[in-house]
Amino acid sequence: MAKKIETIGVLTSGGDAPGMNAAIRAVVRAGISSGLKVVGIRRGYAGLLEEDIIEMDTMSVTDIVQRGGTILYTSRCKEMTTPEGQKRAADICRKHGIDGIVVIGGDGSFRGAQKLSENGINTIGIPGTIDLDIACTEYTIGFDTACNTAMEAIDKVRDTSASHERCSIIEVMGRTAGHIALWCGISNGSEYVLIPERAKEDDEKEIIKKILSKRRIGKKHHIIVNAEGVGDSHAMAKRIEEATGIETRATVIGHIQRGGNPTCRDRVYGSAMGAHAVDLLLEGQTNRVVAYRDGEICHFDIDEALAMSKDIDVHLYSMTKRLSR
Ligand code: ADP
Ligand code: F6P
Repeated sequence: MAKKIETIGVLTSGGDAPGMNAAIRAVVRAGISSGLKVVGIRRGYAGLLEEDIIEMDTMSVTDIVQRGGTILYTSRCKEMTTPEGQKRAADICRKHGIDGIVVIGGDGSFRGAQKLSENGINTIGIPGTIDLDIACTEYTIGFDTACNTAMEAIDKVRDTSASHERCSIIEVMGRTAGHIALWCGISNGSEYVLIPERAKEDDEKEIIKKILSKRRIGKKHHIIVNAEGVGDSHAMAKRIEEATGIETRATVIGHIQRGGNPTCRDRVYGSAMGAHAVDLLLEGQTNRVVAYRDGEICHFDIDEALAMSKDIDVHLYSMTKRLSR
């Protein structure tokens, strides 16, 4: 019979995302209310390998549900990608009596979780990334907040762009994925959205043609949303200005998108995913990733989840094209 789970750990890894604190709080509170001891592992896998482990009680997660970032800190850790590091991490868990771990992060972090599981530590992943680039789930913690932050920033850029009758290229995050760009493209009424999943050679030519034809029908300013994975926005702005004769500026929104108070959705789903991860550990499950699909919180085998691929939402993408004519 599988050993009864008594102590669980929680860590955050990779880029932080607003709503991670809600998930940490849920893991701690759900764990404690189920009679478990809960420890926090600080600074992701780096902290695990340095045994930076603290006991969590109900008060250690008070006043955090509304805060961006992660109270446990996060990091990227090379050693965890080696078989020696992975074995050492599992041995450290055993040394500290940790029977199960909840890993909040992205695909990279889940690969670490998979290795911990292979090395005998029950492990559950929770999708935490602003990029929404985890294939098995329609929702990742932080995406909603990041989109809202970027949307508000683009609204502000639009004010000054309109006053100066300029064209603005606004670069949003997303690593190699264009989900944030697509959502902002729609919510900010942009004229063109550039995303890595659909980038093509003549994008710039099309943008130039569009700007010029919109000017002819009286449009005084232009908003182009560019996903960071597509290319350098400043160089693009220069080329567009040269080709159109219209003053063009690039704005890279940057890390502002990763911070700030999480939206209601990121707090609620982050909490639900944290509590669900604890339930999975209590059932003796391992190597699972919590997901949200078709309106429900569910879970997948991590190996299967990592083998899945994800496209952008094709309906939303074709809609941007229709609405920006
Ligand atoms: P994310 O989790 O957001 O995708 P990263 O790709 O930076 O972010 O991964 C976070 C951490 O997960 C890495 O710094 C590393 O410690 C761990 N990790 C990434 N890839 C692997 C791997 N193949 N095997 C084990 N651990 C990994
Ligand atoms: O994965 C989240 C993310 O913010 C990406 O959108 C971005 O490409 C990357 O992390 C930036 O990483 P860093 O904070 O290390 O610059």
